[in-house]
Amino acid sequence: MDVAEEIAQLKKARNAVILAHNYTRGEVQDVADFTGDSLELARRATEVKADVIVFCGVWFMAETAKILNPDKTVLIPEPSAGCPMADMVTGEQLRALKAKHPGAKAVCYVNSTAEVKAECDICVTSGNAEKVMARFAPDEQILFVPDQHLGGHIAGLLKREYTLWPGYCPTHAAITVKAIEAARAQHPGAPVMVHPECARDVRSAADQRLSTGGMCRFARETDATEIIVGTEIGILHRLRKENPGKRFYPVSERIVCPNMKKTTLENLAESLRDMKTEVTVPAEIAVRAKRTIDAMLAIS
Ligand code: 13P
Ligand code: SF4
Repeated sequence: MDVAEEIAQLKKARNAVILAHNYTRGEVQDVADFTGDSLELARRATEVKADVIVFCGVWFMAETAKILNPDKTVLIPEPSAGCPMADMVTGEQLRALKAKHPGAKAVCYVNSTAEVKAECDICVTSGNAEKVMARFAPDEQILFVPDQHLGGHIAGLLKREYTLWPGYCPTHAAITVKAIEAARAQHPGAPVMVHPECARDVRSAADQRLSTGGMCRFARETDATEIIVGTEIGILHRLRKENPGKRFYPVSERIVCPNMKKTTLENLAESLRDMKTEVTVPAEIAVRAKRTIDAMLAIS
């Protein structure tokens, strides 16, 4: 029996569902019950009937699934799979920022710890940030953590000024305007889509700024048959699988999130076999963080 077959058997035996992010390894996406962006995965996590959720992605995503499903068992195959950007702001730092700006609303990107979510009024993902942030009255002061780039992108779209925490994604920071220009020169006429976690000059150099779920929709709906992709290269597996008649070119083959690659078929099978590693969130933090996530889900 190969590992994929073993995973299918264990999944049945455990009454488990496998959720995977668009950046995970292709072979992991292929055994998942659902693959999506952060918003789609959070939504799907609220609909799970199974007893066990195995989350293939990074820690904050599994933590979000647990917060939304306090009574279910949520497993992450490799617990060291973190998101460096999420760790760029702590609960303590956010409390200090809030104390400096009394009355301001605190908004976190979903790429944040449960403790940070617990301190916020609402959270956003790259898939719904514009819609959620448009709800704030023009005179409201907004503290946005931790991604300066997503926050700056939305502030620009809505013509607002936010107090931005200086966090960033190290993987997307490696995408440059020069690399986009080189890709355009190689594939003339192909539209360029980038993730809003990219820096401002990179976002300006692209044609589309989209969440990973938005990229999958754009690829399906566009008449273009060649598309340049400026995000983590794991998404190419899904784009190519869903659009066999189209061609996808990464801005650079080196745009890899090492944490997203930590889930393998082997540790996924092991996770189901040994029921590890269980994600837990202290109840007091989970209750407050859930309010922040629910506030977002109610809008988007
Ligand atoms: P998406 O929600 O667009 O999938 O983004 C998640 C992420 O971590 C991007 O780096
Ligand atoms: Fe975090 Fe960036 Fe990896 Fe996304 S790609 S999980 S933001 S480090």
